[in-house]
Amino acid sequence: MYINMSEKFYITTPIYYANAKPHIGHAYTTIAADVLARFHDSQGKEVFFSAGLDEHGAKIQKAAENAGKSPQEFVDGIAAEFVGLWEKLGVRNDNFIRTTNSEHKQAVKSVLQTLYDKGAIYKGEYEGMYCVGCEQFKSENELVDGKCPDHGAAPETMKEECYLLKMTEIQKELTERIKSDEFCIKPGRYKNEILSFLEGQKLEDVSISRKNISWGIELPFDGEHTTYVWVDAFLNYLTGLGWDGNAGKLPKEWPADLQLLGKDILRVHATIWPAILLHLGIKLPKNLFVHGHILSGGKKMSKTLGNVISPDEMLEKFGTDGTRYLLLSAGTFGEDVDMTMERMTEKYNADLANGLGNLVSRVVKLGENIEVGMPEKNPVAYGEEMEKLELSGALKKIWDMIDESNKFIAENKPWELAKSDAEKFNRVMAKSTIELYNIAESLRPFMPETAEKIKSALKTKKAEILFPRIK
Ligand code: MSP
Repeated sequence: MYINMSEKFYITTPIYYANAKPHIGHAYTTIAADVLARFHDSQGKEVFFSAGLDEHGAKIQKAAENAGKSPQEFVDGIAAEFVGLWEKLGVRNDNFIRTTNSEHKQAVKSVLQTLYDKGAIYKGEYEGMYCVGCEQFKSENELVDGKCPDHGAAPETMKEECYLLKMTEIQKELTERIKSDEFCIKPGRYKNEILSFLEGQKLEDVSISRKNISWGIELPFDGEHTTYVWVDAFLNYLTGLGWDGNAGKLPKEWPADLQLLGKDILRVHATIWPAILLHLGIKLPKNLFVHGHILSGGKKMSKTLGNVISPDEMLEKFGTDGTRYLLLSAGTFGEDVDMTMERMTEKYNADLANGLGNLVSRVVKLGENIEVGMPEKNPVAYGEEMEKLELSGALKKIWDMIDESNKFIAENKPWELAKSDAEKFNRVMAKSTIELYNIAESLRPFMPETAEKIKSALKTKKAEILFPRIK
């Protein structure tokens, strides 16, 4: 088990760029975090689940201009979209940190001043190829045919006066912490990837500020510069806990027990983020877990290809818990996952309408006239899968149990027993009812609404159709 079994569980998602409405990838990471937060809560831990938005930078400034709005007005609108979507998806985050929040900005300034005073930040110049889509400088070998593979555009060559964060000083320390899993990166291949990157070259100092980008946080020691997006953004993981920037006084939730992120932002999370913390003398997060990307029909989703699957489309078709289930069961958490609406519709009908839906309506209807006391809770044992973040594996265990229960009912035909063998009927139904209670309990972190509905159906003996068949 690699997640430290401490009493608290502080989990974070990346803070997404506020340049457009939320998409399915954002929903994927956030639902996974929500499931893990609910699971750890059910284990009696003090859970804090932090989410938020990354609202500064050139990309967002441009998006606001295109929309004919001021940047603040624009990000306020986007923030409302994200908050609204998390509600519709049953996501129960404990905060929603926005980088335009004044306490956050104050804390970032205070950190920048500390780093500057320590000599960890210095004024210099950076020449490089900058991809605005990534808000990152790119090296030659990260480009494909001279273009950023993620954004399909050639980066701009930029030579700018900027402030830089020293990386060489912390490189050895960082490498050791990753090697020893003190700063644990999972799945293992991502740890190896980062280690070979760190061992293969001397880290370059990182540009942390830009000139002429007004939509950002001003450096306290040079008003001509604003922070380059990442420093501002990373600190959310601390300011989201109410931290004011004082490295000597950290929130009780720190260090983070688990930070989820997509593979696209692993490099920065495994280098710049810990570098800031090491310079400040703050403990590193315990675990980074990197997941793959959602592909649609084998391809990266794009408007031009017309293969974009939107969270709203999924919600409308599959409902809250249907969407949560289909996203997390679509593939292994950690690897790329391919989805199509057709396949998800089939899976919805097979696993939810037929599998789970059938079981609930059978057990509730046939059990109408028998009383089974609330069983000792004995949910499906998937603790190990959850500790390893094998979310689809945990769901598979629940569905094995659902299939077994359905099979048990089909074999024993309680509708016939009701007429011929009252005692066996009672035994079969008592067993099925207890199993359904346990299934409901096991579903709770993944499908909280459904878990509640099943329990209340078992009490009221009224089976509503949980998942109507769809086309
Ligand atoms: N703002 C930065 C993160 C700063 S965190 C201190 C950023 N934002 S983003 O809007 O681009 O979000 C990237 C994250 O969204 C990914 O790491 C992942 O969590 C999620 N996803 C975005 N697209 C995705 C897929 N197609 N599939 C799965 N998740 C992806 O980077």
